[in-house]
Amino acid sequence: MRLVGQRLLRFLNARLTFWALLALPAIFMMAHVASGRLGYVIQDSGTWAARFFVVTMSLTPLMMLFPKSRVMRWLVKRRRPLGVAVFLYALLHFISYLIREPNLTIVAIDFWRIEIFLAWMAFVLLAVLAITSNEWSLRRLGPRWKSLQRLSYLAGGLALAHWLLTKLDDKIVWLQVAPLIALQVYRIARGLRRRRAGASSPPARLGGARSDRPDRVSCPCWVCRPTSVRQ
Ligand code: HEM
Repeated sequence: MRLVGQRLLRFLNARLTFWALLALPAIFMMAHVASGRLGYVIQDSGTWAARFFVVTMSLTPLMMLFPKSRVMRWLVKRRRPLGVAVFLYALLHFISYLIREPNLTIVAIDFWRIEIFLAWMAFVLLAVLAITSNEWSLRRLGPRWKSLQRLSYLAGGLALAHWLLTKLDDKIVWLQVAPLIALQVYRIARGLRRRRAGASSPPARLGGARSDRPDRVSCPCWVCRPTSVRQ
């Protein structure tokens, strides 16, 4: 029984299992592709890109709230595949949009609609982030790499604005975005409170890292292994 448990744990912790989990929505979308329902593919791929974005950007404030949580530590260690999945679903979304709208004149006209203009900006940033989400870029860019990865916040804001503007009257969409907004407000307020308190109190520990260096855990990047999150 113990061996079965260990094997199951190893299977659940395997990187491939996590990628398979991330690919599940795409597998369901293939049914739409097979029956030519491209509109559903655009909608579903956009929605899952945005949802994985919300999860990825929620990890840092959630880690601050629950530094001892094993689930949070498990998720933080998988920030890179999560981030890359955002880009891959956004890419599927973009390609299915171009297939549905092959007329580039219409694509050019669409470009100037605010919700689509923001989407293009988000997509370009996501592409840059995904392309540099590897150890080689990390070594090559050095400290500039971290500031580059901070663009994920801008990409996130643009993509979520695109989602909200595209589905303005859809309460379900607001329900999915509101927790991330609340968590980011908590995080900023916490940072300001700490700054106002100055270095008076000794830094508390946050998931193994010093809370005055939350960036050790909170790096938004999808490559930086949270070395401070020791199991
Ligand atoms: C060049 C880039 C992009 C273009 C041209 C684009 C285009 C569109 C269009 C035309 C729609 C409306 C679909 C419809 O109602 O039929 C849409 C919806 C949406 N897009 Fe994008 N998009 C882009 C990038 C993104 C990115 C980067 C994300 C997220 C990370 C995203 C997430 C969404 C979501 C969540 C929806 C709402 C889907 C629904 O109807 O429920 N899009 N997009």
